[in-house]
Amino acid sequence: MLAVKRLEKTFGLIRAVRDVSFQVAQGEVLGFLGPNGAGKTTTMRMITGFLPPTAGTAIIMGHDIIHEPISAKKLIGYLPENAPVYADMTVWNYLGFIAEIRGFIGRVRVERVQQTIETCRLDTVKHQAIGTLSKGYKQRVCFAQTLLHDPPVLIMDEPTDGLDPNQKHIVRTMIRNMAARKAIVISTHILEEVEAICTRVIIIRDGSIVANASPTELKAKSRAHGAVELTVKSAPGDLVAKLERLTSAARVEVYPPQAAPKATGVQMPRVVVYPRPSAAGAAIAAGPAQLATDILALVKANPGWDLAAMKTLEGRLDDVFRELTESKN
Ligand SMILES: Nc1ncnc2c1ncn2[C@@H]1O[C@H](COP(=O)(O)OP(=O)(O)O)[C@@H](O)[C@H]1O
Ligand SMILES: [Mg+2]
Repeated sequence: MLAVKRLEKTFGLIRAVRDVSFQVAQGEVLGFLGPNGAGKTTTMRMITGFLPPTAGTAIIMGHDIIHEPISAKKLIGYLPENAPVYADMTVWNYLGFIAEIRGFIGRVRVERVQQTIETCRLDTVKHQAIGTLSKGYKQRVCFAQTLLHDPPVLIMDEPTDGLDPNQKHIVRTMIRNMAARKAIVISTHILEEVEAICTRVIIIRDGSIVANASPTELKAKSRAHGAVELTVKSAPGDLVAKLERLTSAARVEVYPPQAAPKATGVQMPRVVVYPRPSAAGAAIAAGPAQLATDILALVKANPGWDLAAMKTLEGRLDDVFRELTESKN
């Protein structure tokens, strides 16, 4: 539904976006991730026709944003950064105004506004001036503007930025509920958001794409993927040495006890055993499964080890994010 083709943007000496290409199909929620200044907003502004690209283009359901801007823009809902809405207008009047611009008239226009107000749960504030609303409601008004014409392609720039956890939950639920019918791109730097709603992730750094994969695939690239974590009530002297001797283990690290919940009163150290990469060089292959099997056998053979828990780690998205986006200097 959306094809981004070799987009480039140069501001003077800054190459803000460099050769960015990707596609989004119906049902996909693509997370557009990257540190501040990576080029997310600039890319989104080019896709939605707010900023002319230096090179490249975006095709929305067959319509080129540069050559057919009007038919392309009819298919897009765009939620810009920082919810720019008219503070003096009431919610109802503002959405009515947007509906008019979008070409709805008469009864259809009123129905459209009413329906969008329901979808975005704005009924209780519809006659209030937007400037008097809390940040969460203001963001939802902007969200309503994005959805008013029921566009098949949604581009949202940090839709949950600055919202409290409850408001974030509401916005994420709304995004998830309409995902099946649409192609959605959201930019964010909140990694838990990616895990909660995105089916695929693009990580962008200094204007270039450095990863394009599902959250699960990305996590598998993490150093901790497939590592086995043991929580031990008491650490017998031979435990670490025996774990280190396993051929499937690359390295063993002991983490001191964290403050335990008061009720238990016990603080337990954790021992993390990292898998040895398989011959092919990929830690994901045979390594981790073998490691867990080996550790289980070792635990059975050493009944003196007082284990409280054992689990295989799936890896952390923020480790991968940091590895891919941190500057090397
Ligand atoms: N209108 C502009 N003029 C000059 N530089 C800009 C402009 N807009 C963005 N930039 C620069 O382009 C880079 C990417 O910015 P942006 O797309 O806003 O990143 P992000 O949304 O990922 O934080 C930054 O270095 C920013 O300073
Ligand atoms: Mg931005």
